[in-house]
Amino acid sequence: MMKPVTAVLCTLLASLTLTPLKGVADAIDDSHMEWWREARYGMFIHWGLYSVAGGEWKGKDYGKEQGGASAEWLMNSAKIPGREYRETLAPQFNPTGFDAAKWVSVAKAGGMKYIVITSKHHDGFCLFDTDATDYNVMDASPFKRDIIKELSEECAKQGIKFGVYYSQFKDWYHRSRGRGNPGTLSTEDYLKLVEKNLDELLSNYGEMSVLWFDTGGNDLIEADAQGARVRELQPNAVICSRLYSRRVPKENQKYADFESLPDRMLPAKRMTDDSETCMTMRHNWGYDRTDDAWKSEKDIIEFLALCGARGVNLLLNVGPTPEGTLLPEETERLAAVGKWMEVNGDSIYGTNYSPVDYDFWWGAMTQKDKTVYLHVLEWKAEGIEFNGIVGKPAKAYFLADAEKTPLPVKYDANGHITTIEVPKNAPDERNTVIAVEYDSAVQADPDAKGKYHWYTTRSKRHTQIRNSKNAGKHALPQAVKGARH
Ligand code: GLC
Repeated sequence: MMKPVTAVLCTLLASLTLTPLKGVADAIDDSHMEWWREARYGMFIHWGLYSVAGGEWKGKDYGKEQGGASAEWLMNSAKIPGREYRETLAPQFNPTGFDAAKWVSVAKAGGMKYIVITSKHHDGFCLFDTDATDYNVMDASPFKRDIIKELSEECAKQGIKFGVYYSQFKDWYHRSRGRGNPGTLSTEDYLKLVEKNLDELLSNYGEMSVLWFDTGGNDLIEADAQGARVRELQPNAVICSRLYSRRVPKENQKYADFESLPDRMLPAKRMTDDSETCMTMRHNWGYDRTDDAWKSEKDIIEFLALCGARGVNLLLNVGPTPEGTLLPEETERLAAVGKWMEVNGDSIYGTNYSPVDYDFWWGAMTQKDKTVYLHVLEWKAEGIEFNGIVGKPAKAYFLADAEKTPLPVKYDANGHITTIEVPKNAPDERNTVIAVEYDSAVQADPDAKGKYHWYTTRSKRHTQIRNSKNAGKHALPQAVKGARH
């Protein structure tokens, strides 16, 4: 969906330069998107029966770090029949360490403004109380606690938006998919299950702020009916574009409120429509025992800033353990980002994409009203230089500096080259934000040129996988085998 008319108009008046100013006239009432646009940063939680297996099956490793599909795809990767998968994993799903209050406070302290959890992933197992199938946490597992209820209530209590991921199209357990893929239900009955599940999720858990559908099909009637149901029962819920397959043209994605970019993607240019990117903290979404490819604090802070500069929200994933806990590697990183956000949040929350259509060697920009925020990811002691913004700034200072001590600024009208003089060492090596304030709304020079440096060279390290197509070929290391349940 387009960003709001107000924002578009402000931008229009402010800069007269941002190219893709589409559809001012056809903007509709999208006030339910306001919190989401302001939020910018949320927590994704992948948790389910697959977490018990941790990417492993019968002594083999199927995780993404081994070139396989992600750990939550285990049922599919290891070709496990539905019954065997259920009978093996559901009785072991007893995460007694689960404490909704803890998870929600970790998200809040981490600076995240919304939480989206897998209420049903592709393996079909429901983490909530449902009458549509007995393949759910209450009936099929010893845990017998409605996880969605506990989390939704805790989110309401702690004042953070709550939403669910729901795999509406892929369901390897329930949905029959032709020869060789028997499910417990025919397609027709499966669609009834989805309808019932949606009614439950949208009626029994208070305010549902996000409906994060995934890997939608091409059937518009099916998808539109599901979207319409969401609108009817929770008119303020924000709906993810994965309700539809990517092949469905955008103009036909009637109920999509935002575009969910392909997993882990930092787009090549600024996104002027509402968009979100989701990112793992290591390779796998679901818990994986042997995945040690943790992104650093800097990687995450950097990615968050670059998402801001591209105008996309970031939904950062955690994959809790079978015991119901977040890993220390996750909580440490989230806390560090949260600390950074406490000081630098103004450069992320409620900001718009960079005023210019490129990055700089040192990093990238976000903007709000009369201020441009320079996210300096690589320090340049000789000065932070940029072009493309018309006029000399009124003031520049480190956002982390409560005193707002002015930094010396040089400005050359020829090319609008502005240089902020800085000390020799970076105050924050992960990302030092410099606020650059102008006297009037930020105005970009339409002829200014530059490159997307941070897209071409940096994004790759977030998706690199050590091997490829090796899933299931690796025996588990002895130590890991010993630690298994
Ligand atoms: C993909 C995968 C899925 C994961 C999701 C996260 O669509 O199928 O396992 O949940 O991406 O965005």
